[in-house]
Amino acid sequence: MRRRVLIGNWKMHKPAREARAYVNEFLPLIQHISNVDIILAPPFTSLHVVKEAIKDTTIGLASQNMHWNPHGAFTGEISPAMLCDSGCQAAIIGHSERRQLSHEDDNKVNRKVKAAIAHHLTAIMCVGETQKDRDAGKTSDVLSHQLIEGLSGIDTIDTTQLILAYEPIWAIGSGTPATPTQANRVHAELRKLLGTLFPASTTESIRIIYGGSITAENIQPLLAMPHIDGGLVGGACLNPQNFATIVDTADN
Ligand code: 13P
Repeated sequence: MRRRVLIGNWKMHKPAREARAYVNEFLPLIQHISNVDIILAPPFTSLHVVKEAIKDTTIGLASQNMHWNPHGAFTGEISPAMLCDSGCQAAIIGHSERRQLSHEDDNKVNRKVKAAIAHHLTAIMCVGETQKDRDAGKTSDVLSHQLIEGLSGIDTIDTTQLILAYEPIWAIGSGTPATPTQANRVHAELRKLLGTLFPASTTESIRIIYGGSITAENIQPLLAMPHIDGGLVGGACLNPQNFATIVDTADN
């Protein structure tokens, strides 16, 4: 039985003061949660504040990106060791916004995933197809390419070190999520593909989460699906009460 995980991706929202206020409001609302892993992914500049605010809790901290090099002349980049130093246990890698807006390709995603694992950070690796891919019937091809290339050269993995996030680009920020059946079908395919890379016990334990227009209202039927092990939440996580409701639904 895979433990559910809910990740709040704040994207480019909440400077330090707002981040602190968010966590202060969020913590009392999720005190009773026992069956769900919760991870917050604030922007880099708020990591230190969130780290401090969650220090006596089981909430995890993730970055929204990272560079694969340990240090060097990479202006504007943040290394895995710097993230560990900032209190992160995880890093979102290959988010579609980075793939699309910052030309992050599968090769870079692969380097980042490997670097994250080497630094004992959980890689939250995102895959997803565009509307155009979908219309052309290429969803499976695109996703299998992203998955195989993203995990290339990784022969063994501790299942706590990888979370796979299926985020169909057409669903992100659109207000219309994939249907539970659609998402579940894709997750089942992704799990089958993982089975071509890793032993069955590993494949069965890796969590595959869904992201794209999740709300407190639509999360329940998504989570009822056997292959959906949690969510990567954007817009709806920005309000602590909303995110707490989502987490609470997952806990039941
Ligand atoms: P929305 O929940 O705003 O659609 O964003 C999803 C996402 O990109 C999370 O990483």
